[in-house]
Amino acid sequence: MSKKRRIVVTSALPYANGDIHLGHLVEYIQTDFWVRFQKLRGNDCVYICADDTHGTPIMIRARKEGITPEELIARSHALHLKDFTDFQIAFDNYYSTNSPENKALSERIYRAVEQQGFVTKKTTPQLYCEHCRMFLPDRFVKGTCPKCGATGQYGDSCDKCGATYGAEELGQPVCTTCGGTPVVRDSEHLYFELEPQHDYLEKWIPAHTTSDVSNKLLEWFKEPLRGWCISRDAPYFGFEIPGYKDKFFYVWVDAPIGYMASLANWQAKQGGGKAGEVDVSMWNDPDVELYHFIGKDIIRFHCLFWPGMLHAAGFKGPNKVFVHGFLTVNGEKMSKSKGTFVNARTYLDNLPPEALRYYYAAKLGGTTDDMDLNLADFVQRVNSDLVGKITNIASRSAQMLQKKLDGRLASLAGHDEELALLAQLRAAGETIASLYEDRRFNQVVAQVCKLADAANEYFDRKEPWKTVKTDAEATRVTLTAALNAFRILAIYLQPILPVYAEKARALFGDAAWTWDSVAETVEGRTLGAYAYLASRIDAKQVEAMVAAATVKPADSGEVAHESRASKNKGKVAPSAPLKPEVAFPDLEKLDLRVGIVTSCEIVPKSSKLLKFVLDAGALGTRTIFSGIRAAYPDPAALVGKEVVFVANLAPRKMSVGVSEGMILFAGEPGACGGVLSPTTPAGGGCTVT
Ligand code: MSP
Ligand code: ZN
Repeated sequence: MSKKRRIVVTSALPYANGDIHLGHLVEYIQTDFWVRFQKLRGNDCVYICADDTHGTPIMIRARKEGITPEELIARSHALHLKDFTDFQIAFDNYYSTNSPENKALSERIYRAVEQQGFVTKKTTPQLYCEHCRMFLPDRFVKGTCPKCGATGQYGDSCDKCGATYGAEELGQPVCTTCGGTPVVRDSEHLYFELEPQHDYLEKWIPAHTTSDVSNKLLEWFKEPLRGWCISRDAPYFGFEIPGYKDKFFYVWVDAPIGYMASLANWQAKQGGGKAGEVDVSMWNDPDVELYHFIGKDIIRFHCLFWPGMLHAAGFKGPNKVFVHGFLTVNGEKMSKSKGTFVNARTYLDNLPPEALRYYYAAKLGGTTDDMDLNLADFVQRVNSDLVGKITNIASRSAQMLQKKLDGRLASLAGHDEELALLAQLRAAGETIASLYEDRRFNQVVAQVCKLADAANEYFDRKEPWKTVKTDAEATRVTLTAALNAFRILAIYLQPILPVYAEKARALFGDAAWTWDSVAETVEGRTLGAYAYLASRIDAKQVEAMVAAATVKPADSGEVAHESRASKNKGKVAPSAPLKPEVAFPDLEKLDLRVGIVTSCEIVPKSSKLLKFVLDAGALGTRTIFSGIRAAYPDPAALVGKEVVFVANLAPRKMSVGVSEGMILFAGEPGACGGVLSPTTPAGGGCTVT
């Protein structure tokens, strides 16, 4: 028997400020295939992950929701884990980067890198918002492109001409949080210098990535490597850098260290290790293989900075970084307005997880190519192959055996044709295993489908539905062979379809399967109850999912801040009891006018209120306080919108100021969450105070 391998596998740590979507799942599902395959082969394999909890977007998001970052990341942790679990993704440890282990390890690695002399200091000009009291990250400032003059461009690059620049070079910069004008201030930053490891990394990269990945990265090695800025100014949600005040590790420093911290946390849970000490023995064990699964957008962090950091600090690097491409849906980038930017939960509300796991397997070839989820093809492939071809072998055979032949399996001894069929299926085992090892899951599925064709061909040729009327024992042999054939296929598919395989295993009354269980022939036993394994999916389910995921164009701006609260967008509000009828003269008392929002801000110390200033034309300006903050995580986005407001409402004195009217918002009464539209004066009843 070959030696048991010891393997640690990671998927990239999802950001804690958003929901898991079908794009993310390309990664977590394929990692899960690979981990489950290793376990089925009898290897010791640990699947490690965590939420990536630090950084500006998380801090800002929490601020907008009026909660602490800790509350936000606790909520995301629970939602993410539930989504993953429901997709049958089985982590051995799902931790958080905001952990004591990660803090200790980040400090330790930083100190070690610093001792090598690889950390330098530079003072750079940066945009600072005096109102928000913070240095503005690139994506929190907009202005005019210094190259082409296009307006409304972010602080790092121009959408129109593609130029990259520093945020301080923007013309007329505006803070996207408050709408104010930032100033330029000097700030000292820490850089991790990569050039001292130029030669080391130049050798490391091609040995630990595929050629398409390394060829790209190696282009940078023609020149001296540039240092990487690893510090961020306060306020920042993260770990403070030892020896500095108000300077924090950039999130991408402590995020990959989060892999190590999650592994240490898992190890501690297994027992052993010294109390109070973060145990990294497994990470550094030369016998333990380490693999990272990542998407192609984060190659730089995993194949350049990370191995550089690890090496400088005296840690082992990963054996391989496996890079996959991006998900497209119907051949295009996922789109909110087309309903193809689908959250994991929206999918699960409409379709079974097995279908997506199966389809992703059928499409993933272990390359960095993008992968297309074609929704029509998805329905067709699942129905014709998984259900019609593979599952059909079991459902036809098991049901006939149970209905007509007491559910008892025959002995196949001496039945050469049947034994030859099973031998043919078993012979493919090592090929399929090496396809799994190479992450060519599409080829695994193709092989299994080919073997299922052979089993179906055998079944059809034997015509058991006819012979059952004339020769019960011959039919029992046929069904026993077909069921054993199915059993072998179910074992091959177990890493892809674990719950399905579990039901199949129970049907045969087997103990837990290993890869070698295919060698056994199940005979003479009585089958267990037939549980449904997989059912056909309907295009209508896909349509319902797309409808649920569709976001009206006006609402679709905030891609980075998509949350579960926005799930209701685009849906008609559920009916609520109507208030008593009013007469026309009642309505006539209201003087409704149109105003333009000239400013809209969060009211400090209030979790509900937004302060609006309207340009009300001839009426001058109006200040109105509205309790609808939950519906508008980004109040600045309302500036410039036309709104309808009640202009003759008696001014109301509030603790925060005087409110001079009431803006009308349409939405579900009482639930001011994400469905409001200030440009629609109709409907609603979302009380505005
Ligand atoms: N937090 C970082 C990773 C830190 S790892 C030390 C991050 N998070 S993420 O949530 O944006 O992405 C998590 C993983 O999902 C990444 O590997 C990313 O490439 C992958 N995907 C996110 N969207 C994707 C698609 N649309 N398609 C395929 N994979 C995608 O990056
Ligand atoms: Zn600001």
